[in-house]
Amino acid sequence: MIVQNPHKVGICDTTLRDAHQSLLATRMTTADILELAPLMDKVGYASAEVWGGATYDSCMRFLNENPWERLRAIRKAMPNTRLQMLLRGQNMVGYRHYSDSELDAFIKHAVFNGIDMIRIFDALNDVRNLERAMSSTKKEGALVQAGMSYTISPIHNVQYYVDLAVRLRDMGADSICIKDMAGLLLPYPAYELVSAIKEQTGLPVQMHCHYTSGQASMTYVKSVEAGADVLDCAVSAVALSTSQPSVGAMVAALEGTPYDTGLDMDKIGEVNRAAKEIRKHYAKFDNADARVDTNVLRYQMPGGMISNFISQLKESNSLDKLEAALEEVPRVREDMGYPPLVTPTSQIVGSQALMNVLTGERYKIATNEVKNYFRGEYGAPPAPVNEEIRRKVIGDAEVITCRPADHITSTFDDARRESAANGGKSDEDALLYVMFPQVAKTFFENRSAGEDNVEYEMLKTEKAGNADVSYVPVS
Ligand code: CO
Repeated sequence: MIVQNPHKVGICDTTLRDAHQSLLATRMTTADILELAPLMDKVGYASAEVWGGATYDSCMRFLNENPWERLRAIRKAMPNTRLQMLLRGQNMVGYRHYSDSELDAFIKHAVFNGIDMIRIFDALNDVRNLERAMSSTKKEGALVQAGMSYTISPIHNVQYYVDLAVRLRDMGADSICIKDMAGLLLPYPAYELVSAIKEQTGLPVQMHCHYTSGQASMTYVKSVEAGADVLDCAVSAVALSTSQPSVGAMVAALEGTPYDTGLDMDKIGEVNRAAKEIRKHYAKFDNADARVDTNVLRYQMPGGMISNFISQLKESNSLDKLEAALEEVPRVREDMGYPPLVTPTSQIVGSQALMNVLTGERYKIATNEVKNYFRGEYGAPPAPVNEEIRRKVIGDAEVITCRPADHITSTFDDARRESAANGGKSDEDALLYVMFPQVAKTFFENRSAGEDNVEYEMLKTEKAGNADVSYVPVS
């Protein structure tokens, strides 16, 4: 056996966050989550991703559940596992930038309620959009995992990501995540990328690949040989397709090698059996497409974007323009300085490409988001934008070059006041309200009086009365 960089590999189980976000429209209920959590806690995972991303919104919007109560319940059910969440930098778990004071409050509550590690990323890899979230997370005593949005372009080469990783380390990252949301990272480039990042930063590297293009398991094996420390996987019942590789498959592949995870297949099997039953509850939302979609590699865009195109073109009876629309995406991306395609840039680039094709003239109509993008409101594009196109879209309008959040004047106190005026009763409520005001208002109206925040008050008393109460496995 050829062995390079022998080391024990850890698994992060994404079943309770990304797996159901990717396959089941983020609909898994807290009740179902709590069936799985105690079983997952026995496995000995390096960590579990259980909160953040779209779950915060969906939980309240579709399930009428409080995401903060969910987090506390998961923490209680998983006392032995490091819990991680996904945060979109200055966007928190919403869809625009928020002020530093709002961000600080959010992170404080997330850590207080049991999050041990926050994965922080930005769609454009603009580190200014990560700075505050990183320093705030450190201040609250949780681990910072800096995520790099992976994409392919003339500027996104190994050197680009190594430079980015070194910067993130210098900003205080405790570990680096290579976040391959579209499943574009191929096995051999992954080997090169991980080797270089490990060598230049000395930090632990965690791999987050989606299985969409069929590459992720192979990519993981080559990453492990290059020194990757932790692999994001989901139990088989909710793995593959647009989700992550399977925990069981990865554990079996590494068993008996110098990269052995040491995890017990029987315990993983128990989680998987329960997850298999639970998945049946979501048949209505289940978008599993067992096929591997290699078009993702051909067009270098996430699978969701391609199916979006198809349904939108069908609606306007112009499915014959599909090929033209797909070919327009890389051109729009080039005009915009090669943004990685992930929320929200995938939507911004996608709708503009469609618009260009449907109107028959490029940028004849530009969406508001594209105007904002060219004004610098999402941050600095990875490469310079096409100046001619910029002028066509926003004319002589000013382009901001500072950190976008510097323009936001609202504070968490404003959010508190507005939330209270709309039925909010606590700081947690204000954090629901600030990101999703309409949804939160309805949620506040629907909940019965007196039941909110009992658990929160208990936790506060418990922590205050016993200084060394710690839910954090600090290994
Ligand atoms: Co993901």
